[in-house]
This record gives sequence, C-alpha cells and structure tokens, in this order.
Amino acid sequence: MPKQILLSTPHMGDSELEFVKEAFDTNWIAPVGPHVDAFEQEFCQVVGTSHAAALSSGTAALHLALRLIGIEPGDEVFCSTLTFIATASPITYLGAKPIFIDSDRTSWNMNPDLLQEALDHRAKTGKLPKAVVLVHLYGQSADIDAILEICNYYNIPLIEDAAEALGATYKGRSPGTFGKIGIYSFNGNKIITTSGGGMLVSEAPDLVAKARFLATQARDPAPHYQHSEIGYNYRLSNVLAGIGRGQLQVLRDRVNARRHNFEVYQQALGRLPGIEFMPEAAFGRSTRWLTCLTIDPKAFGCDREQVRLALAEQQIEARPVWKPLHLQPVFAGCECIGGEVAEYLFETGLCLPSGSNLTPEELERVIEVVKGLKN
Ligand SMILES: Cc1ncc(COP(=O)(O)O)c(C=O)c1O
Repeated sequence: MPKQILLSTPHMGDSELEFVKEAFDTNWIAPVGPHVDAFEQEFCQVVGTSHAAALSSGTAALHLALRLIGIEPGDEVFCSTLTFIATASPITYLGAKPIFIDSDRTSWNMNPDLLQEALDHRAKTGKLPKAVVLVHLYGQSADIDAILEICNYYNIPLIEDAAEALGATYKGRSPGTFGKIGIYSFNGNKIITTSGGGMLVSEAPDLVAKARFLATQARDPAPHYQHSEIGYNYRLSNVLAGIGRGQLQVLRDRVNARRHNFEVYQQALGRLPGIEFMPEAAFGRSTRWLTCLTIDPKAFGCDREQVRLALAEQQIEARPVWKPLHLQPVFAGCECIGGEVAEYLFETGLCLPSGSNLTPEELERVIEVVKGLKN
C-alpha cells in the first residue's frame, strides 16, 4: 500500500520545541504568559498591524469580532458564500442572520459589484446589514479596496476572515489588516499552526483590549470574581503561543513552498484540456495555501468527483472546493445574492495536496494519477 498523502499537514520548524521547553521550564502552562504577549507582538510586526489578541481558534476570533461590533439577535450580516462554515457560524451564535454574497471569477472571493448592488437595494428599503464578513479564500486576498469603499460609503464595519490567508498580500499589505477587525487561524491544516489557535487584529486598541477581556470570562477589575457581562474562555495557551512564535519564523518559507507546489502542479497539468487553475488576482500575491483547480468534465473526460476518487484509491487526499454556504442544509432559507459562480466552483473545483512539507516524489505521484485519467 503506498504511503498516504494528506491535503495539508503541520510543518514544524527548528525552534518551536525550544519555545515550548521554555514554557515548561518556567511553568507558564496557562492561557497567559510571556509567549502569548510575544506572539501577539511578533504577529503584529509580520502582518503590519498595531494590536492583536491571541485566541484559542479562528472561530473564537470571529465570534468575538462580531460581538465587539455589537451584533445582536435579529441583525443581518452580509457574508461570503464560498467559504468554510466557520466564517458564518459565529453570526448565528449571536442570534443574527447571514445573507450570502457570491464570488467573482478573478479572485474566487466576494464580488464587489454584487455587494454594491445589494447594499444599494438595502439602503433604499432601509434595511442595511450590521456588518460585512469578507473571506480571503485559499490564500488569496479578496478585492479589499473595492469592498471597503462600498462598506465605508454605507458606514458598515468590515470584518476580514483571513484564516486561510496569512502571508498573502493585497497591494503590498496583509489581508486581514484593512477592515475594522481581522482574524487568522492556526488550525493544524493552516499555513502555520499552533495545533489550534487564532488571532484577532485591529488598529483600535480599545477593541483588542475588549477582545482580551471577553476571552477571559469578562472579569471585572475587582479582587473577587465579579462579572457584569458574559464572556468566554477563548485565550490561547502560553505553550501553544510558543509553537506560534517558532512557526512565525518560518512563515515566509512555508509560503514559498506552497507557491512552489502550485507551480509544479500547474506546469504538469495546466495544459490538459478542461483543467483550469485558480487564478491569481493582479492586486496581490496568494500564498497558494491550497492548490485549487477546476475540471470541466466534457473537456477532461471525467469530473471532479471521479478525479478525487481516483486519487483516494492511491491513498491521496484531495477535497472538493468548499460547498457554498447558501447550499448548506443548515442555512436553508437564508438569502443569497447571486450564487452561480460559487456553485460552479464547488461542482468543478478540487483542492490538491498542498502541504509545505510535500516531497517532489509525492507531488509527482499526485500528478501521475491526474494525468493518467486523461489517457
Ligand atoms: C475561512 C476560514 N474561516 C475560519 C476558520 C476557522 O478557524 P479555526 O479552525 O481556527 O477555528 C477556518 C479554518 O478552520 C477557515 O478556513
């Protein structure tokens, strides 16, 4: 049986273990400590922002972001439809309702024209959403300036879900640092990982201070335990923050390795009929967190699912592109503006193994299976 090739696995560098050992040696094993503080500061430098709060997950960061913006039961929040469910589920934690927006073909991310149309229409009927949650998918930034301009015009706060886009650029800056609040994920499959973790960033110090407060059970400044509002247990462990500090040191290498995977796949498979690789929008540099392509079954001879199953038979994990959220049973009944582009990308899109630790032989094994289906 050939060795299994997984979609995206953790890839440790040389110094993570030293940071973890330091946490053990100094007995900072709690969700507080010097690694947490240093990780936040170093992260700010890497993405170019002023304030950051290290949290237990990207989902927790999104939940706090929406809470900080004041989302309440009954509110509506506009949200990208082509994404992982965690972009939208925190909207429902707060009793609010997501309204989904389709992608464009250039970036696979939220289509600014559709957002404009939808907000113009809502403005006329006096029902503007309370926030917009914008995802940067598969390591590629959305067209942030266009989206921010529309949001600013209507005075609607933008939350950026950059869980998959750490290390990417938009016009030279990091996606996640443009909106009112941005979030990142250090889940095990992400470009760098703390095994599980997330970061909330903002230029507003009061928002980040409030995020830390809410993430530690919203404890009032009193010698006893006193609480005037409900909080959460969302802070990142000092041990895991140590892993994060080590991972930040190798972020650039990890981006380069993933971009290299993409180039190898594209060179080998890009000219096959019916295969189209996810484009890189002109406004930024993608990390190519996952190498994604679409397969036109008529031109290629078999469809995305047949390719996925053929890979699985050879112990190779590939995954369909995210199923759009407006098609998810749990969001049945939620409105979606457009939807055809996301549906097409889901029906035809496949993510190939993309870890920064893949060997040339492993890449070749994937390529041979896909090529073999064409013969
Ligand atoms: C787009 C997107 N948003 C949010 C998340 C949630 O992050 P976490 O798994 O750290 O909660 C993920 C990944 O898991 C993601 O891919």
